[in-house]
Amino acid sequence: MCGIVGYIGEKKAYPILIKGLQCLEYRGYDSAGIALISESGSLNVYKAKGKVADLKVFCEDKDVTGTAGIAHTRWATHGEPNSTNAHPHYSASGRLALIHNGIIENYLTLKEKLIARGISFKSVTDTEVLVQLIEHIMISNDITLLEAVQVALHQVIGAYAIAILDRRHPDTIVCARQSSPLVVGLGAEGDYYLASDASPIAEYTDRVVYLNDGDIAVLQLGKALKVVNIDNETQHPNVKQIDVTLGQLEKGGYPFFMLKEIFEQPACLRDCMRGRINVDADRITLSAVIDYCEKLVSARRIVIVACGTSWHAGLIGKQLIESLCRIPVEVEYASEFRYRDPVIYPDDVVIAISQSGETADTLAAIELARQAGAFVFGVCNAIGASIPRQTQTGVYIHVGPEIGVASTKAFTGQVTVLSMLALCMANERHTIPVELYKEMVRELTLIPAKMEKALKTNEQIERLAPIFTYARNCLYLGRGYNYPVALEGALKLKEISYIHAEGYPAAEMKHGPIALIDSEMPVFVIATRDRLYEKVISNIQEVRARGGRVTAIVTEGDTQIQKFADHIITLPDTLECFQPLIASIPLQLLAYHIAVCKGKDVDRPRNLAKSVTVE
Ligand code: AGP
Ligand code: GLU
Repeated sequence: MCGIVGYIGEKKAYPILIKGLQCLEYRGYDSAGIALISESGSLNVYKAKGKVADLKVFCEDKDVTGTAGIAHTRWATHGEPNSTNAHPHYSASGRLALIHNGIIENYLTLKEKLIARGISFKSVTDTEVLVQLIEHIMISNDITLLEAVQVALHQVIGAYAIAILDRRHPDTIVCARQSSPLVVGLGAEGDYYLASDASPIAEYTDRVVYLNDGDIAVLQLGKALKVVNIDNETQHPNVKQIDVTLGQLEKGGYPFFMLKEIFEQPACLRDCMRGRINVDADRITLSAVIDYCEKLVSARRIVIVACGTSWHAGLIGKQLIESLCRIPVEVEYASEFRYRDPVIYPDDVVIAISQSGETADTLAAIELARQAGAFVFGVCNAIGASIPRQTQTGVYIHVGPEIGVASTKAFTGQVTVLSMLALCMANERHTIPVELYKEMVRELTLIPAKMEKALKTNEQIERLAPIFTYARNCLYLGRGYNYPVALEGALKLKEISYIHAEGYPAAEMKHGPIALIDSEMPVFVIATRDRLYEKVISNIQEVRARGGRVTAIVTEGDTQIQKFADHIITLPDTLECFQPLIASIPLQLLAYHIAVCKGKDVDRPRNLAKSVTVE
């Protein structure tokens, strides 16, 4: 999700806010905006599609006076990236301006109630519902902004970091957080700074308060910081000292974005499932499946087109859909598919998977499918990107901007969406028993917590990594659902450490590649507990018999493996079809730590780009 900044004090707010947005630029954005209470007391909102630089151009001939303001870079979740949907959003009367990071899950329900009370909306965002709700409560009950925020947040379900300006109280900013980060900076002259992380604040003060979930803060000039909860109970926040470099701050204290994004995965998957798996965890609701149920459920064949890591996610999607929905699935490299004059039927469903939504080969494959009359479905991260605009419908993975070139959280986000899609379709096709459907849905909601446990292998893997930095070739082996995980682990290592690596189906080794085995080539085997475990153990023994050195990734409680492996990484257990979500974590960490040992630029590996928009 994108960024929030605010300032209230004696200085001109505009330069501080614009600089703050530029600090948050790494978080990605598709539009930006600013609200200022001017010297004349008017509440001015300026916003533009595109980058912060575009907003600056837009503001060149505007009244940007004032010492109180808030500003926002948007990572759209509800509503295309454009100036109407950009933040800040005015309240109906124009008295309030609000910015928001996060997702209001029940915004449609709240919006219907407000429309019924005669309130109209300018945007299609979930955020605008919040500012209209707050003003409606404030005016109809004749209460303060703080009180109205408390009442409103009792009705809201979802994640938010918000900041609000009230034209009638130019000395105050009210802000609140629930699941999305928000930091208050305490200026030396009694002024206040506000941001999604400390990076925009560090230049002005090193004294910060990291707001906690449920906190509502009142930043009022001349008064001490006031923090209460939605029940108006006073909170006692700790003032912390910023002790990391500005560069590290942008990365949330991590040395590289890739490591930050690896560790973000549990939270990102919760965002991905938010509002789609109901709180009783017994049902999945995907609007794309509701809107196009007949088309999806009656598909004669599904063709998945993608590139790179997204193609690996597609291989997992194939196994999920075939085993749960009993629909044949083909997975194609988009770059091959587009040139081989493929057979495409009008009753085919083509699923295009892409983090960036801009990959040229995938876009071309979509165009081919549309020309053949197939129904095209997108699984993307970047809202409003080219691919979501070229597909008839789709599901966003909602993992927030992925900055590291090596894809991590987008991969697990894609696999999570494909898991929800397969379960949704299987339930509609009645190809799995309802009880199994519910059991799988419940297990899927437990994955983020199991990922957190898998992330605890980080220190062990950091200690292991130096052993492999000498290697010139590595082999990754897996079977079934873990074969694509082997491919993905190999790609991670290749693209950031520049060590050649190959992912292979473990059973295929004896058909040639086993000739490669010697003590100089590390072999990483995913041997988690599933139907094929014993067969994978046999494959490990084949490798060991030829002097190969094996690092095995297994399920906790495995008592056999120490006889067969040189190094063992244990993971929490889960259903076989969800194991890729867990098993990919140690392989991401392994690639990361080996690359760091080799002194590589992990976030910007040579020859690569985050989005391959060329053919
Ligand atoms: C993944 O680590 C790579 N950076 C690359 O393979 C990437 O997955 C591929 O270029 C596809 O990108 P997309 O998902 O944005 O379409
Ligand atoms: N859900 C809000 C929107 O789509 C906020 C997105 C963000 O965090 O930038 O506008």
